[in-house]
Parts: sequence; structure tokens; C-alpha cells
Amino acid sequence: MIKVLHAAAEAVPFVKTGGLGDVIGALPKELIHRGVDARVILPRYRDIAAEMLDQMVVTHRITVPVGWRQQVCEIGEIQLDGVTFYLLGNDYYFDRAGLYGHADDHERFAFFCRAVLEALPYLGFEPDILHSHDWHTGMISVLLEAHYRQLPAYAALKTVFTIHNLEYQGNFASDMLGDMLDLGWEYFSPDRVEFSGQVSFMKGAINFSDWITTVSKSYAEQIQQPEYGHGLDGLLRSRADRLTGIVNGIDFAEYNPRNGAYIANPFDGRSLRKRRENKRHLQAEMGLPVAEEIPVLGMVSRLVDSKGIPLIAEALEALLAFPCQLVVLGQGQEAYEQFFAEAARRYPRQVAVKIGFDSGLARRIFAGSDLFLMPSRVEPCGLSQLNAMRYGSVPVVHATGGLKDTVLPYQAFSGEGTGFSFAEYDAAALLSTVGQALTLFQDKKAWNKLVQAAMRANSSWQPAAGQYQVLYSQLSAK
Ligand code: GLC
Repeated sequence: MIKVLHAAAEAVPFVKTGGLGDVIGALPKELIHRGVDARVILPRYRDIAAEMLDQMVVTHRITVPVGWRQQVCEIGEIQLDGVTFYLLGNDYYFDRAGLYGHADDHERFAFFCRAVLEALPYLGFEPDILHSHDWHTGMISVLLEAHYRQLPAYAALKTVFTIHNLEYQGNFASDMLGDMLDLGWEYFSPDRVEFSGQVSFMKGAINFSDWITTVSKSYAEQIQQPEYGHGLDGLLRSRADRLTGIVNGIDFAEYNPRNGAYIANPFDGRSLRKRRENKRHLQAEMGLPVAEEIPVLGMVSRLVDSKGIPLIAEALEALLAFPCQLVVLGQGQEAYEQFFAEAARRYPRQVAVKIGFDSGLARRIFAGSDLFLMPSRVEPCGLSQLNAMRYGSVPVVHATGGLKDTVLPYQAFSGEGTGFSFAEYDAAALLSTVGQALTLFQDKKAWNKLVQAAMRANSSWQPAAGQYQVLYSQLSAK
């Protein structure tokens, strides 16, 4: 049985700020289902609900070197839904509000990377593969080569690194090299961890891991081009033989329209009448006029540039010239939060906004909206469009990255497709595509067929977990 340890900075149901947390919460379950012994290791943040930690057992207290510092680390273990989670505790680094955004994030995650490697002999679990995710865990592969490879317990370990978003790289001033990573200046070169005069967690991971994956095929190609490469496209091109795109799935147990835990009227593709009840509920909950014939456009998104919020801002007035309602849930850049709050004040009968994070309301938007807007400028995979489809909200997306790979554009002649997409990233393209969708919305028969096709799209974790499993066995056979 292949054994895999996933190292990540977030995991559902403990902590989540975005799609990374969903992936780490769901992928191991599916891997276990396929006979891979997959486990997860993450920091024990203050933000993890106390009740969740009730069942945690602290198994060891160890010391972890962070440069000249010796930091304590508590190894906690907890079983959840058949998955073993290891939580690494250190109050100095993690007993504070929020996951990221502290001035010493470089030190906090240097500690975490080192602590994962130090903890390995104490886990009672000897992984064949160490699978790290995003920049926070990027130094694991580097430190493994630098400090642990010669020890027998680490000699055969293979490493996989998944890029969930190349934009966030973890680049920091070079003095951390010796001071926090115990690395000599020979590591400060472009084929190791140096990037534009800084120490880069992301670049270190790309250089040192046995295999690189990212979360869709299109994004795997895009990041090899200067436009999307954030300065690392050349390096990624040179590693193209060890880079694969595996599109994410969604947790079918968590995102299931037949499950009444979050929505008032559970439904499926054969009971779209009930779906319309959810729409009325959503309109009422958001304080909008309750009217079945008015199309509801939903958005659940971080409110940041890359998610295409500037397009929405530019197109808003023209969008609202259509007879429609817009429901928005999200948080992010303050300017965008204010923009939407202001729009809701100006158009109280058409726009309703909730700033924040609310996983119940998110599902009620998926289940109650007719169209789901996701005009991201860049989208490595995107999970919300998959959730929306599963709940029968037809996605309107910019054809990029995972959005391009998961939403099949509607073909008027054959009636095939699972949503709408536009190629040019501009407000006019967004508007005309929403216009087309709203025209089809008037044709109830064709529309219901499209809703059902979207609901049937197979976005479970099964295919992706299968591809990871193949990758793991190939690597561990090497
Ligand atoms: C990041 C990406 C998003 C992806 C998620 C999970 O949040 O921005 O596109 O779906 O990671 O891989």
C-alpha cells in the first residue's frame, strides 16, 4: 500500500481561506477509498475551533531547529472521517488570529517546513511520498535534500509539489537563508532557492521536488508562458517533463443538492421544481423581491482582481439593465467590498451582498441562483463553478485555466454544453455572454436541459485521485 503524507497550510474542516483547504480536506478521503494510505499534516492554528481539538491526542513534544533557534513543537494526532491528521503546535508561531499575513510569515512557515521533517520519525507512519502544497510548504523538498537525505529514514522519500496558485510565491529577504533555514550561500543560486535577489519558497519547491503538479491542464500550460508565469515560466518550461495538470474535484458528500443540511429544499436533476423553492428562499433571505421569473445571478468569490471583480465593476450598470438580480457573497480587497455594498444600497431591488465567509449561504446561492458568474482573469482550477454546476446554477466563465477545462460552452444547435464562456477578458464579452444566457433562460425547456447537463457533469474526486495514485506509484517505483 502506498503511503502519502500531504503537507499543507490549510485543510477542511479545520481551517480554510480558499480552495486549497477544500482540496486538502477531500483528496485524502478519495485516495484512502482507492487504497492509498493518505494522511495530512498542518499547523495547529488558534483559529481551529476548540471542539475540533477535543479529540486530539498530543503524542510527542519535540524540538525543531529554526536557524539558531530551538523551537518546541507539539505533535497532535486526530482521526476524522477515516483520515489521520497530524497537527503541529507552537504557540509562538500559531497561537494568533488568522492564518497568514503576519510580518514573520517567512519564519512561521520555515518552522513548519522544518517541523514536518523533524516530526516524521515520530508519526508512526513512514510515507513513501511527501506531497506538499503551495508556497507555505515549499521549503520541505529543499530542506529534505539539505539536511535529511543522508539519514536512512529519509533516503527513499519521494516528493511531489502542487501549485494551487503561482501568484503567491513566498519570496523573502535573503538573510533568512542561514538565519532561518540553516542553508549556506551555495543555496542562493537560480537553480536552488534564489529568485530576483530573494529567497523563494515556490522556486525552491519547483527546483527540488521530484514531480510538480498543478490543478488543471490548461493552467499547467499557461504557467509556462510569460503572461501567467510570474517570472517562473522559464523554469517551469525547463521542468515540463516533470509537470502535470490534474484538475481538482469537489467533495460530493459535502456539496450535494440532495442533502438538506444547508438548503431548505433538497433536490436533484429530476426535481427542478424543488430547486425553484430554493430560489424563492434565497431571494427572501437576501431581502430581494421574491419572483421566480426574474433570473438570479450568483457570485461566491474572494473579492480580488484575479477573480475578475474589475469586469463586474465595469459592467455592473449594463448588467442591471437586464431584468435580473445579483447576489454576491465574498470578502477581499476593501475597495471591492465597498463597491458591492454601495451597489446594494443603490439598487436594493436588484443587488444583495453579504461581505464575509458563510459556507451555508454559499450553498444556498449555488442552489438558488440561475446563473453563476465567475469571470476570473486567472483561475488555476476554481471550485465554485463546479459546486454551482452540481447545484444546477449554470456557470458563465472567462475561458481560462480550470474554468476552460471544466465548463463546456453551450452549443445552440446540438444543445450540448454545461455553461457559457467567453474568450476575451473584457466587460463587453462578459455582457454579451450573460445576454445570451438570459435569452436561453426564457426558453424553459432548453434551459432545464442545460441545468440538468450541468448537474450531471462529473466533477467528483474520482478521476483526479486516480491520476495522483498513478503518479505516486510511478514515483515510488523509481
Ligand atoms: C487556489 C486557486 C484555485 C484552485 C484552488 C484549489 O485557490 O486559486 O483556482 O481551485 O487553489 O486548487
